[in-house]
Amino acid sequence: MPVQDRKKIVTTHRLQEMKLMGEKITMLTAYDYSMARIIDRAGIDVILVGDSASNVMAGHQSTLPITLEEMLYHATSVMRAVKRALVVVDLPFGTYQGNSMQALSTSIRIMKETGAHAVKMEGGIEIKESIVRILSAGIPVMGHLGLTPQSIHKFGTYIVRATEKDEAKKLVEDAHILEDTGCFGIVLEKIPAKLAKQITKELKIPIIGIGAGGQVDGQVLVLHDMLGITQEFSPRFLRRYHNLFEEIKGAVKNYIQDVKSCDFPSEKEQY
Ligand code: KIV
Repeated sequence: MPVQDRKKIVTTHRLQEMKLMGEKITMLTAYDYSMARIIDRAGIDVILVGDSASNVMAGHQSTLPITLEEMLYHATSVMRAVKRALVVVDLPFGTYQGNSMQALSTSIRIMKETGAHAVKMEGGIEIKESIVRILSAGIPVMGHLGLTPQSIHKFGTYIVRATEKDEAKKLVEDAHILEDTGCFGIVLEKIPAKLAKQITKELKIPIIGIGAGGQVDGQVLVLHDMLGITQEFSPRFLRRYHNLFEEIKGAVKNYIQDVKSCDFPSEKEQY
């Protein structure tokens, strides 16, 4: 991407233009000020304050335990850093499934208290009414279909979704419902590449994939996974760009050694 374009602020409108122009959309998660600052300055298009914070920041086994207060804290920290990217915040489990009024009040808190630009929620037809209500308040909504981690106890496993005809049919229908209802984009997680390609062709709104192949409008990864900070999670779709776990561990070991041996601080590093 040319340097001058990298400076343009990313909006939902801009993502739509990128789809039309065939320019791939880049998206990563972030949960804190320092990381958000780095990836924003690197030129990422969309930052997702994902409920994956539950796993990578808090060490839970699933995304279910994270609370709205915790998501507000993460999103506020990210927003202090971001100058260019579009920031989308996940509605955490249990804060929108009750009814559309609950979904609206959760979304309003996120927008008002964090300054984020949009919300994301998991599900298809079953959350249609909530999407309508949130949109009526002027809040942009991103959908999330396929492997929806908040429903892990219903699925029972993290395997690829929609490999069977019936589930694939429902997924395509749900994607159309999300578009017709007014979502500005959809994340498709861990589904066959062929199906993701079909949905990307059929829909006008941008489709962002994670484990959904290359024939979509953009890609999203969890930052801690692609940087190699997490180690135990190694699905086929994950490309690691670094092994930060080992690098940070090595740096900390060096520090320990320097302090123990009285090498640090040196004369130059004191007053
Ligand atoms: O919470 C998250 O990180 C997500 C991505 C996996 C898309 O929803």
